Amino acid sequence: MKKVTAFIGTQTKSHTYHAVQEFENNLKQYSEIDFEYVFLSDYHLEFCRGCMQCFDKGEEYCPLKDDRDVLLQKMEHSDGVIFATPNYAFQVSARMKNFLDRTAFIDHRPRFFGKTFTAIVTQGIARGGDILKYLYFNGENLGFHVSEGCCVTTREPMTGLQQKEFTQRIKKASARFYKALMRPTQPPSFFRLMLFRLTRRLVESAGEKYRDYHYYKEKGWFEADYYYPTSLGVIKRLAGYLFDFIGRQIVKPSNPGVTDQWL
Ligand SMILES: Cc1cc2nc3c(=O)[nH]c(=O)nc-3n(C[C@H](O)[C@H](O)[C@H](O)COP(=O)(O)O)c2cc1C
Repeated sequence: MKKVTAFIGTQTKSHTYHAVQEFENNLKQYSEIDFEYVFLSDYHLEFCRGCMQCFDKGEEYCPLKDDRDVLLQKMEHSDGVIFATPNYAFQVSARMKNFLDRTAFIDHRPRFFGKTFTAIVTQGIARGGDILKYLYFNGENLGFHVSEGCCVTTREPMTGLQQKEFTQRIKKASARFYKALMRPTQPPSFFRLMLFRLTRRLVESAGEKYRDYHYYKEKGWFEADYYYPTSLGVIKRLAGYLFDFIGRQIVKPSNPGVTDQWL
């Protein structure tokens, strides 16, 4: 049975929660799913102090002792995750942003491969589409395979048409998510392949004083085609060589400043 966890960035059991409930009900029509609700407000998560210890030395050096790792374990133990947030001042809620900040070190050392991610945004009026894109980008950076989610407008009183649209959007998003959840791991896009090849050049050049270097070495990523075993095919394989070449041109040992700016 697949395990799906929804991380919810609001403490009100209102529109965002209802959207996630609707998503869960749809999902369970396809097969049995172990579905968990995680309200970020129920966990102790302090604000990032910007000390960079997690990036540079490792996440265990974070001076904040709170529930960060409990939340990370929940992601680790899930086959699929949903980040659900209301639109607050045209962005994710502060709770959701803090969660993203506190897990941002994983952008450097991605780990959630073979897992599916989606996002649900609820809003009164507008700009939720940009928030979705922002969440997708974060999901990909953490290593997830991203399935297109949905943004729903919840301003009260909802007309019959708005209610229908709410139901339809969530239904379609849950169908996409279920399909992605059941699909084997896919090869990367050209963009993601390029990011991997250029990033590893930066990491290699930055050297052993950074945790990322050791992480990449442990994982065998300096020699690998991609983060996880996959069949690239001829064209992507050639593109990979090209990205490696470009990486070597941009980040030369004689030009270490490039690395310091980027890492
Ligand atoms: C502080 C605050 C800021 C908000 N800012 C926006 C906004 O910028 N754009 C928008 O469309 N809706 C905005 N809304 C409306 C909420 O996104 C909308 O009501 C959402 O469905 C609330 O979710 P909830 O009921 O789960 O808390 C805001 C609401 C609050 C409380």
